[in-house]
This record gives sequence, structure tokens and C-alpha cells, in this order.
Amino acid sequence: MDWGLQNRLSRIIRQPQNRALMLAVDHGYFLGPTARLENAQKTIGPLLEYCDSLMLTRGILRTSVPPATDTPMVLRVSGGSSIVGEDLSREDITVDIKDALRLNVSAMAMSIFVGSKYEYQTIVNLGRLVNTSIEYGMPVLAVTAVGKEMSRDSRYLSLACRLAAEQGAHIVKTYYCEGFEEVVDSCPVPVIIAGGKKTSERGAIDLTYNAVQAGAVGVDMGRNIWQSDNPVPMIRAVQSIIHRNNDADAAWDMYNQLIKAT
Ligand code: 5RP
Repeated sequence: MDWGLQNRLSRIIRQPQNRALMLAVDHGYFLGPTARLENAQKTIGPLLEYCDSLMLTRGILRTSVPPATDTPMVLRVSGGSSIVGEDLSREDITVDIKDALRLNVSAMAMSIFVGSKYEYQTIVNLGRLVNTSIEYGMPVLAVTAVGKEMSRDSRYLSLACRLAAEQGAHIVKTYYCEGFEEVVDSCPVPVIIAGGKKTSERGAIDLTYNAVQAGAVGVDMGRNIWQSDNPVPMIRAVQSIIHRNNDADAAWDMYNQLIKAT
């Protein structure tokens, strides 16, 4: 792996802990103004100092993040469908590598939809994105998007993660499931988990802890942080699991203490 690519990767997966706290705010690319992300600048501002990297689209990066920030950016480069359209799996690459470089991002991210109508298109797109990205030393994060009709079990998620890694993705993002060790063990590149729909704060803390225990290098979490009534205590609790090896009880205590202190 070349130096530039490794350098970018190490900004996302922090060393020597080999852990990553990525804050996902890219939801608008197919959901539009998602609840509590309507004004992205306001949502991102207080959280920026606590995440290792921020995952977003170029539109939100340009308009809603201060250019003086040191936080590494993970740029979503796929899109083409919306929540009111016909098929969410119909995505293409929408951003040129030149714009990713101009924006000084640390990785590019795209979704693959294994088992969907557009499986072929999204997997081939991933291979092509990796071809381009390695030429420029730019890591690729593959997101294993799961359609409503798919079961999020370890068999399916292992398949999706492995396909992404086989195409050359440098990091894979997926969902936590029972038997998650199997997903991580059969994926030769680092795995991070999405938080999914908003659940209880304790539920999201447990999810983070269980995923890291099973071998995930961290999270790419969105709604369970910024849809919380207490987003800063929430991201700090998640951070304490990822970077300070807190267990779920300690992180939960920390969350409650931070609320009391504010
Ligand atoms: C959508 C994404 C989101 O970034 C991802 O789902 C993470 O956010 P959340 O924790 O809210 O699920 O990649 O395809």
C-alpha cells in the first residue's frame, strides 16, 4: 500500500489503537432534510471535535463545515436515487476523484447493494472506484447497504462485506448482527458499523460496545448520535468505548454524568 493511501487511512482509523469514530451526516443524499439534520451546520458544529472523521457529501462539506477544520473527511461519492424514487439500489458514482482531491478528503465512500436489482452495477462501480482511487492514494470505504427485504444476518452481511473487500475496498461499513465475529473474521479489511435507526441511548452504547468486542474497529454512526436529545454526551460516551476501552456500563455512566454536568 502506498504512503499517501496509508497516511489517509491512518487519519480515519487512528493508530496505534486501530480504532475509528466516524460521524455519519450523509443521510440527505437520498433522504433529503432528515430529522435533526435539517440544518447540517448546526448539527455538525458541536460534534466535530469529538469524531475522528466525518462522512458526508460534497454539498454539505462545502456549505456546512469550516474549511479550517483538522477533522478528516470521508466523502460520499455515490448517489442517484431518493427515498421517493423507484429503487434505492440504483446508484452510480456521482463525484469525480479530482473534486475529492480538491476537497482534500481522506477517503471516498460508496454503497453496494448485494442481492438487489442493481447489485451488478454497484459492485462494478466499486471496482472502478478502487481502480481510480489507488492511482491517487485515496482509500475507499464500501457501505454494504441493506434493502428492506434483506435479512441482516451474519450470513448475508459476511457475503456483502467479503464482496466489498474482494473488490479492493480499504474499509467496509456494515450492520451489527448476531454472530458478528463471523462477519469480521471473514473480512480481510477493517470493519466499522452503522448505528441504524434511532434507538435508545443505552441501546446504541451496547451496540457500539458489542461491535468493538466482536472485532469492529469502530463505528460510522449518525442518527443515534445527532437524533439524541443529548448529542454531545452521546458522542463522548461512544468515543469512550472506542478510544478508552470503556465497557457499556462505564460509557452509560459517563453519558448520564455529562448530562448532569450541563
Ligand atoms: C446511508 C449511510 C449512513 O451514513 C449510515 O446509515 C450511518 O448512519 P446511521 O448510524 O444513522 O445508520 O451510509 O447509506
